[in-house]
Amino acid sequence: MLDFLGDLRRTHMCGVLRASDAGKKAVLMGWVNRRRDHGNLLFIDLRDRTGVTQIVFNTERDRTVHEKAETLRNEYVIAAVGTVKLRDANTINPNMPTGEVELVADELRVLNESKLPPFLPSDTALTNEETRLKYRYIDLRRDAMQFNIETRHKVAKAIRDYLSSQGFFEIETPFMTRSTPEGARDYLVPSRVQPGTFYALPQSPQMFKQILMISGFDRYFQIVRCFRDEDLRADRQPEFTQIDLEMTYPQPESVWAVVEGFLTAAFAAAGFEIETPFPRMDYDEAIRLYGIDKPDLRLPPFTDVRDCLSSENLSDLAINPNLPVIAIRIPKVGELSRKERDDIKPMFHSKGGARVYEDFKRIANRYAEAAEKISKKTNMAEGDLIVLVAGSAQASSGEKETAFAPHRKVTPQELAIYTSAGLLRLALAQKYAEQHQCFQKGDFRFLWVTNFPMFEWDEGEKQWMAAHHPFTSPHEQDMKLLEEGVESLHDPLSPLSAVRALAYDVVLNGTELGSGSIRIHRQDVQSRIFRALGMTEEEAKARFGFFLEALEYGTPPHGGIALGLDRIVMILAGAESLREVIPFPKTARAVDLMVDAPTPVSEKQLRELGIVVRKPVGQL
Ligand code: AMO
Repeated sequence: MLDFLGDLRRTHMCGVLRASDAGKKAVLMGWVNRRRDHGNLLFIDLRDRTGVTQIVFNTERDRTVHEKAETLRNEYVIAAVGTVKLRDANTINPNMPTGEVELVADELRVLNESKLPPFLPSDTALTNEETRLKYRYIDLRRDAMQFNIETRHKVAKAIRDYLSSQGFFEIETPFMTRSTPEGARDYLVPSRVQPGTFYALPQSPQMFKQILMISGFDRYFQIVRCFRDEDLRADRQPEFTQIDLEMTYPQPESVWAVVEGFLTAAFAAAGFEIETPFPRMDYDEAIRLYGIDKPDLRLPPFTDVRDCLSSENLSDLAINPNLPVIAIRIPKVGELSRKERDDIKPMFHSKGGARVYEDFKRIANRYAEAAEKISKKTNMAEGDLIVLVAGSAQASSGEKETAFAPHRKVTPQELAIYTSAGLLRLALAQKYAEQHQCFQKGDFRFLWVTNFPMFEWDEGEKQWMAAHHPFTSPHEQDMKLLEEGVESLHDPLSPLSAVRALAYDVVLNGTELGSGSIRIHRQDVQSRIFRALGMTEEEAKARFGFFLEALEYGTPPHGGIALGLDRIVMILAGAESLREVIPFPKTARAVDLMVDAPTPVSEKQLRELGIVVRKPVGQL
């Protein structure tokens, strides 16, 4: 038999009672976390989001209440009325904040029962993720999930408060809109009143926030849901939350200072102190030192050890002497077994003739002098793993040197070596550095990566794409290259390759937290960019006409950035996946297992929308 709540009022949460409360009357309400039956004494650990208090039901105190307590099972919801009592010295639990007291119950109300859950919030071993996601309401009761969601709240609040204090207005932008320029895929929403037409859910509020600058709001921010129908990974969800902001008349540094300010506040809210300003690194430099545009600064950069090898060494090892010889150093990995060494080669994915020479030991046996120099130049210490990546001499023969390089510090051939080495470094770091605990909790290494290339060559389409998005401003000094470049649109060696963007990323421990740029505010520059992207004026008008028109009505210089809130919270909570910090996430197949979405809809609904569903390809 269930009881009604009646006029009973909760006096304390379950995590707050302390020794100083002894003697007080208290009314606690919560879930039965654990039940221990010792005959005349029955102990219930009562749980709510603040913690757990032990409730004692004693036959000597009240036999009927004790009997009723015997019917309690895990996850029942109860109210217990009683007196706070100090525990006997030998039953004090120093691991519980409430461990010095217990509530001796005089009254029990069973407010609700629970079926036996597929797993218990108090289980220490985690059940499989599918079950967790299907029964998310049980999963969310777990301490770890309560902590993650609380952290999320605190972080968002700290950011909101900080940005408000800096004169940013929080302004909402539409969810039912039209295609945005990020390039990933849109989720579409059919219109019933205009059959055959569709809204798109925003991949970001990019154009709206720029229009808010044109509208005179000066500083905008929004903690906003974005939607992208892209392939999912651990750090990607189809709907995710951005901390999105935009400001007028900024230098890149003005945007960076705002981001450093709100991240300081956000990390403080989660109990971490961070140092600002963050270091800055040119994109080309990041590639040269780490082989990637989001370097993890917790591990040492590459060392080019070409000059440590004599020309005989190089030819003996069949290494191309004109390209860098990259030494990757992973500290403190210790002696690798033969099998571990054999495992390294399959981790390597060669680009442009890059090869891996993993066996530093063998190099040391054969070329003692070179090895000595390499270990010195890389600051190698006892137990460090060194892996060499270099261009293969064979692959380079006959390859003509390109004229690509003049504007960039990295040639395509070098880029191939650096990026292959960068990927290997990441794979090695994941495999060994975690295992050997090279990473310490709370070691947050932020970085601004700046001066990205404006365009990326798309080998499939044989044309240039915007590396960030087409509203990003090129460097003022590179306008001439842009003009020259539009003459050679379908050439991978076009001067477009050398145009730098006023774009920047904020990176933390190898994860891209956010991306932004100074925008184009002039219609003539914007047209040139569209031309460089192979878009005719008509095409550009058809896609972004309203925006191009807005640009012509007095657009001030402006710029901004967006950071992934989910990614920030994931790092702060020490979680491995975004799913751990999003209350109701989707699986890797973009499915919500709890509500079971997406689903087919009724014929009637489709008819109203004027939609005919064809069977997916393969089922026709
Ligand atoms: P961008 O596309 O780089 O830039 O996105 C900014 C940040 O949003 C986060 N993010 C994601 N997080 C989880 N799941 C996803 N699928 C996902 N996609 C992106 C990342 C990323 O760094 N409008 C521009 C910003 C600007 O120029 O101001 C934009 O959206 O942390």
